[in-house]
Amino acid sequence: MIVVYPGSFDPITYGHLDIIKRCSKKFDKVIISILKNDAKKTLFNVQERVALIKEATKHLDNIEVDSFSGLLVDYVKQKNISLIVKGLRMVADFEYEMQMAMINKRLNKEVETVFLMSSSEYIFLSSSAVKQAARAGGDISGFVPPIVREAINQKIKGV
Ligand code: PNS
Repeated sequence: MIVVYPGSFDPITYGHLDIIKRCSKKFDKVIISILKNDAKKTLFNVQERVALIKEATKHLDNIEVDSFSGLLVDYVKQKNISLIVKGLRMVADFEYEMQMAMINKRLNKEVETVFLMSSSEYIFLSSSAVKQAARAGGDISGFVPPIVREAINQKIKGV
């Protein structure tokens, strides 16, 4: 079975990679797909995020990296896929993710969303927190792969 793991991935973290690694073991193929959202100001553009994800997942052989705009359910339908995978961290994620899953189900009843609980070591991790920590000079090496850390440092500090 092929699944879509959608998100902003600005940038990809060890939390995302944990979900991707676990999915890659359970499914035939995982399509990681980045939402193209012009309304949202991001640190990395879509091409940069695709490149970082490809590099960070190059050791896994059943991964595809893609991007989409518009509705997620339309994108998965167009790809002939009926399963969306999302990661769940804290209770705070639940309300939003439940709403999204229900809206998506109303928009296309063939599409199911499954949730993987975040591994405990990454339960606190988010791309926003990583960017915030990096901007304040914090050590983010435990949160993102070295290539992502370098890319963040280049953007933020110009080094
Ligand atoms: O990493 P994120 O920011 O939590 O990812 C959210 C994402 C991209 C999965 C979600 O915003 C999404 O699916 N957006 C596409 C638009 C859509 O289909 N929205 C649901 C119906 S309103």
